[in-house]
Amino acid sequence: MLALLFVLFLTFVGWEVLHFYRRRASLPPGPFAVPLLGNFIIFIRPPFIHVGLKRLTAQFGPVFTVHLPYPVVNISDFETIRGTFRGNDATGRMHNVLIETARFCKNGGIVNSDGADWQEQRRFAISTLRDFGMGKNLMEEKVRLSARNMVDFINKKDLSDTDLRWSIQVFVSNIINEFLFGFQFPFDDCDKLMNFVLGLNTAIQVISRSKLMPIIFMLPWIRHLPIVSYFWGKHKERFDKMIGYVREQAEAVKYNPSEEPTCFVQAFHKNNKDKRFEQLLSCCSDLFNAGQETTTTTLRWAMLLMASHQEVQEKLRSEILSVIGRDRVASMADKAKMPYASAVINEIQRRANIVAPNPVLFHRTTVDTEIAGFKIPENTLINGDFHQMMKADPLFEDPDRFWPERYIAEDGVTLKKELVERTIPFGIGKRQCAGEGLARTELFVGLISLIQNFRILPLPGKTIDLEPIYANIHFPKPQNIRLERI
Ligand code: HEM
Repeated sequence: MLALLFVLFLTFVGWEVLHFYRRRASLPPGPFAVPLLGNFIIFIRPPFIHVGLKRLTAQFGPVFTVHLPYPVVNISDFETIRGTFRGNDATGRMHNVLIETARFCKNGGIVNSDGADWQEQRRFAISTLRDFGMGKNLMEEKVRLSARNMVDFINKKDLSDTDLRWSIQVFVSNIINEFLFGFQFPFDDCDKLMNFVLGLNTAIQVISRSKLMPIIFMLPWIRHLPIVSYFWGKHKERFDKMIGYVREQAEAVKYNPSEEPTCFVQAFHKNNKDKRFEQLLSCCSDLFNAGQETTTTTLRWAMLLMASHQEVQEKLRSEILSVIGRDRVASMADKAKMPYASAVINEIQRRANIVAPNPVLFHRTTVDTEIAGFKIPENTLINGDFHQMMKADPLFEDPDRFWPERYIAEDGVTLKKELVERTIPFGIGKRQCAGEGLARTELFVGLISLIQNFRILPLPGKTIDLEPIYANIHFPKPQNIRLERI
């Protein structure tokens, strides 16, 4: 009996190895990989996947296959990313057990669904954001109100030694909370919101560092083994808590079919074709998660970059004071008259480069296709490496330097189109960020309000630490700064 089991085991292993190398041969070249561990032993070390990918690009060029430990085709040059993601062939997502755990129904939500369900929910979310907002300026008004509240709140703090993290976090989280559930939290009474945010932040960091998680993605059954099941249980606990917040808020929203919807939950009940409550929860959860850590983290980087580049800050402030003045809250109509502000925001997003290679955002080919002359079979994962592209594209001269002037043409007022189109923090193509319009409004109104009201400075005798905390999102290290009222 034992001998039979052993033979069966050997057959299974032999078949897996054969399958691994046969699949490997069907994909673009890349470093030698071994089954189960892929390239994790030598080339790739979480959470520094971006470093490994950069090194491999130098060796194999802009399109190669890497095993994380499952095969992923990495693309890092702008034209190939754009060509691939503008079409329909790579609009699928990876299906894995972690994502299934965080979802309320199969193929639900926007970020990790694909096919017809994805198209329908993405279209609904974007049109609801538009209906509440950008056209009628209602969303912009919510952003402006939240910015004013943030400035008032900061004004009550001790400005000589402070950390703006929570002020920025509440500013951003309140906007998406109001869009989804119809209310904002007071700045000084928002523990519930903050517990959610801390849970999300910890989950991102723990998952990014985990060497076990990628193996669970590939062989989901190992999560039932002793020890592995303990770590898996911890992840699940964190997700269950976060999911609990979204469910509680969505259930509390009152809906009257005879009234005009005032938040996403009501709009969903009234107008979405798929009426399942689980679908509603999946969409709320995706918008809530995607809509806050990203914008908050970018604005936190903005504060550190402003503190460490006083000349940029002064130039930006002088543009703000001449176009908007000292008292009025910025609106998006001002942006067209503020080329330097646009250059600064592009450069903040390019330099902060917060979205690192992340399995949750890998694309998947839904048909056999071709990329840069390579035949790519259906169901291949693709990483459009925006992160590396924004750091290494030859058009970004001296890429580590924070230098907004790189975007300004010789006439001093026009933005250089070829640089702006290569600045792709929101991705590109069919799966480009669904909240980009809102995020751009938050970044503009948020940054302008802070610089209009406060001079951002390092603490006396201290320098600003611009080395990130490496995870799927590159977070700034927590550090205090000094503010002076303008
Ligand atoms: C500075 C802020 C933000 C950044 C840098 C950012 C970046 C991204 C990136 C890189 C993607 C993946 C693109 C791809 O898969 O090719 C994405 C997807 C997404 N983002 Fe954002 N995002 C931001 C803010 C927001 C906000 C405020 C919302 C919600 C209101 C949002 C909702 C989404 C959704 C729903 C998706 C999934 C789109 C899809 O798969 O079809 N994001 N974002």
